[in-house]
Amino acid sequence: TAAVSLAGLRIVVSAGPTFEDIDPVRFIGNRSSGKMGFAIAAAAARRGAQVVLVAGPVHLDTPASVQRIDVRSATQLRDAVIAALPADVYIGAAAVADYAPRAIAGNKIKKSADILTLELVRTPDTLAEVSASPSRPRCVVGFAAETENIEAHARGKLQKKNLDLIAANRVGVAGSGFESDDNALTVYSRDGVQALGPAPKTQLADELLTLIAERLHA
Ligand code: C5P
Repeated sequence: TAAVSLAGLRIVVSAGPTFEDIDPVRFIGNRSSGKMGFAIAAAAARRGAQVVLVAGPVHLDTPASVQRIDVRSATQLRDAVIAALPADVYIGAAAVADYAPRAIAGNKIKKSADILTLELVRTPDTLAEVSASPSRPRCVVGFAAETENIEAHARGKLQKKNLDLIAANRVGVAGSGFESDDNALTVYSRDGVQALGPAPKTQLADELLTLIAERLHA
């Protein structure tokens, strides 16, 4: 099928993990490679969109014609995404840490007792903030990486965060998820569901953008 043009649209994409520093040498992170979000940004730019890619710490090249903003923590990601609004579309593909250390130690924490307790606090939920923002994009898309009860969790997030689409993928199975080049997505909207893949993330990115473009043009 011919690619639907996204010319004239501004699309903000977040991608990659966030790292939450504990002290100058340690952090809490996760296994996101950023490949899915980078593939979406690349595909959107190829279709003519103006793309802002807010990227956590990843080892990936910036796609052609994409404006990249590098961040490290969940709070930095939120600030960069909100600053990039208004936009027509927000795609939250970043695996944002849900908790961060209450304070970052100024010096390396030395080992002493057998048990060390870290106090963690909730991070800002960028996707929820974008969706509730006065300059809410017309299409707000989330990702849900789940190990179980995929549909119930994805639909719950669609409702709770007031999303237009949520792309669920199962982590922990071969050929899908975090570090793989391939993925399989189930995309839920309030009124439907669509299975994409298994396929290379570059192809899935294009198929997801087609779903988004169809909604924008509907
Ligand atoms: O609630 P959960 O973290 O599973 O939802 C996943 C979606 O929410 C992803 O699109 C992710 O980018 C976004 N998210 C976020 N900020 C957080 C946590 C998740 O933007 N603190």
